[in-house]
Amino acid sequence: MTVDPYPDYMRESINKVEKTRDKRAKETIDHCSPDEITDVLNNFHPDFIKEQKTKLRFGISKGEVVPLEVAKIVETKSVLNPKAIDLKKIDFDTDILIVGGGGAGANAALWAMKSGVKPENILIVTKLRMGDSNTTMAQGGIQAAVRSVDNPAIHYLDAFGGGHYENEPPLVRRLVRDAPLILKWYEELGMMFDKFDDGTMDAIHGGGTSRKRMHFAKDFTGAEIMKTLRDEVFNNNIKVLEFSPAVELIKDETGQVAGVVLLNLDSKEYIVVRAKATILTTGGFGRLHIQGFPTTNHYGATFDGCIMGYRAGVPLKLMKSVQYHPTGAAFPEQIVGLLVTEKVRGKGAQVLNKNGEQFCFPLETRDVEASLLIRECFGKNNGIITPTGQHGLWLDSPLIELLHGEGTIEKNFSAMVKQFGRFGVDMIKDPLLIYPTLHYQNGGLAINENAETKMKNLYAAGEVCGGTHGSNRLMGNSLLEISVFGRTAGISAAKKIGKVTLGKLTLAHISQYNAFCDEHKVKNPPSPILFPDYTEAKHKDRVLPTDFLI
Ligand code: FUM
Repeated sequence: MTVDPYPDYMRESINKVEKTRDKRAKETIDHCSPDEITDVLNNFHPDFIKEQKTKLRFGISKGEVVPLEVAKIVETKSVLNPKAIDLKKIDFDTDILIVGGGGAGANAALWAMKSGVKPENILIVTKLRMGDSNTTMAQGGIQAAVRSVDNPAIHYLDAFGGGHYENEPPLVRRLVRDAPLILKWYEELGMMFDKFDDGTMDAIHGGGTSRKRMHFAKDFTGAEIMKTLRDEVFNNNIKVLEFSPAVELIKDETGQVAGVVLLNLDSKEYIVVRAKATILTTGGFGRLHIQGFPTTNHYGATFDGCIMGYRAGVPLKLMKSVQYHPTGAAFPEQIVGLLVTEKVRGKGAQVLNKNGEQFCFPLETRDVEASLLIRECFGKNNGIITPTGQHGLWLDSPLIELLHGEGTIEKNFSAMVKQFGRFGVDMIKDPLLIYPTLHYQNGGLAINENAETKMKNLYAAGEVCGGTHGSNRLMGNSLLEISVFGRTAGISAAKKIGKVTLGKLTLAHISQYNAFCDEHKVKNPPSPILFPDYTEAKHKDRVLPTDFLI
């Protein structure tokens, strides 16, 4: 006998969802008007809660508006005591140092090698293992304008509109222009993208796309990309140092960046790496649990790269903007916050309230969709509350089978079927309960279109950077960003290393930053934090956004 994972009151609501399904299958619902978008964002998006933001008080981006959780770990001293490090004892000397073992880091290493740098002169250092990253966890797809009805200019307009026109034009241009060549290269490496019978690539819409340009490997696109890139890194004998998170950047006496200090997680000893070029690919900040939200992110996503870059003098951009993915799991409790890919809506699943009613177009851009869901729960009281107190709405996955035929879910979402199946939830028969979850850091370190920061010899790529997506990223532009800018950083660094001469190493910028903290009487614990602290179950203390609003 199978046990129903849902309590009776949730089952009753599911019955309502089932009753309206046939009728809804023929229904479409309109996009929000521009006025409705402004209204729902202002009133229900967590970014618009002023009390949850503050201005940085010192450093290169003094005055930048950031979430409170970010200020707490930026406005603080380093975990590293600069005086305790002997910079004359160099443990590794390399031409190109890549900090981060995800997709951006692997791309940077491989393209530096393809640009002429010998593998033995490239070093990847990573907090956990090679591939432990948000790239591996990405599900839905990668955007690239490769179909005859599409082109990079249309992709540009979609990304720009989705980002509320706050994107940096040269970065968006680079992103969309290089997308087709990345997809072609990935195919040459052997990645298994889903294709039609005639061999052309399958593609669907994501929120805010005017063309179908989301390419995917079922619902584990990121894992497919990372697996292939990791094999390439190892097969080419590029050196990888695992379980060694970077703690601070090192400069030389002329002020140019000259490497990093790492922490050996086993021995707790510091490691000094000198490098002619340093590329930060450390990812984002999901594990800061901004405003108490659960997250889709990898365990190591703690904002380290941004902190190191900021202390070294690289500005932070667009930190006011945080991405909440509309559909994180809200039930069962064991997987709360984990991603339910946008591809589920791309394939036709509708979002419904407790009465089984559609209340919004399912593929608005993420910030708008997330706000509409929060409004339905808190503004209109039409959500479901689980036995553990999670709020949620239904994502009608069985509708996909009705629209596209039996077997479509297993074929497209085999990983998710397993993930929910482990807890007795069958997404082929029953809808999924979802709620917005912290997904992506829209802002980050400022770079130019060549992935260069304003500090000499320092490059950055991927989620650690800000500017490409404006104040709201579209689905599938993240796997693209790590690929395009990882590649660009590797090529840019390879071009420059021949001209780099390094002087005496120093951590004077850390001593200076610590002195600013003293001046401002900072009391926050030191950073980077490297790992989230779950000893106080902080993610449970969610500040429900509408507490401020109704
Ligand atoms: O919904 C998703 O599959 C997420 C994709 C992305 O953030 O690009």
